[in-house]
Amino acid sequence: MAKLDPIVEFREDHRKVRDGLLDLAKAAEAGDVTKARNILGQIDTLVGPHFRYEEENLYPALKEFLGDYVDSLIEEHGGAIATAKVAAKVLSQSSISKEEGREVAKAARALLVHVSNCDGLNILAERFSPKKLDELGKAYAQARVAGVPLLRWADTIRKR
Ligand SMILES: [Fe+2]
Repeated sequence: MAKLDPIVEFREDHRKVRDGLLDLAKAAEAGDVTKARNILGQIDTLVGPHFRYEEENLYPALKEFLGDYVDSLIEEHGGAIATAKVAAKVLSQSSISKEEGREVAKAARALLVHVSNCDGLNILAERFSPKKLDELGKAYAQARVAGVPLLRWADTIRKR
C-alpha cells in the first residue's frame, strides 16, 4: 500500500470539497439541477473515503488530545450526512423550484462550515508521533482504495 502524508492529503481533500460546495451552491441557486447533481456526485465520491478515514482512524487517534470530545465530532458527521441526503433528494428530481435551489445552496453552505471546522483538526494532527502519522497515512490510503462514496458508506458500513 502506497504511503501518503495524512496532513497534506487531509487539507487537499478539504480544498477540493470547498471548491465543489461553492460550485454546488452557485449551480443550485441558478436552478441548474444537472450541474448541481453532478457536483454533488463528485463530492459524494471524494468525501466517502475522507469521512471513513476520519471516523475509523483519525478520530480514534485524536482521543489522545481531545478525549471524549471526539464523540461530538462523530455526531457532527451525522449532521453533515443528513444535510447531504437532503441535497441529494432534492437534486434527484428532473427540475427544481427556486426555493428548492435555495435549500440546496443552504445545505452546501452548512457543509462548507463543516469543511472549515474539520480542517482545523490538522493543527492537532501535527502533534502525532511520526509512527502514528505513518499508520494514519496507510489507513487513509486504504480508505481511498476501498473508495466507498459517502451516502453508500453512511447507509451500510457506518451503520453496522
Ligand atoms: Fe474532514
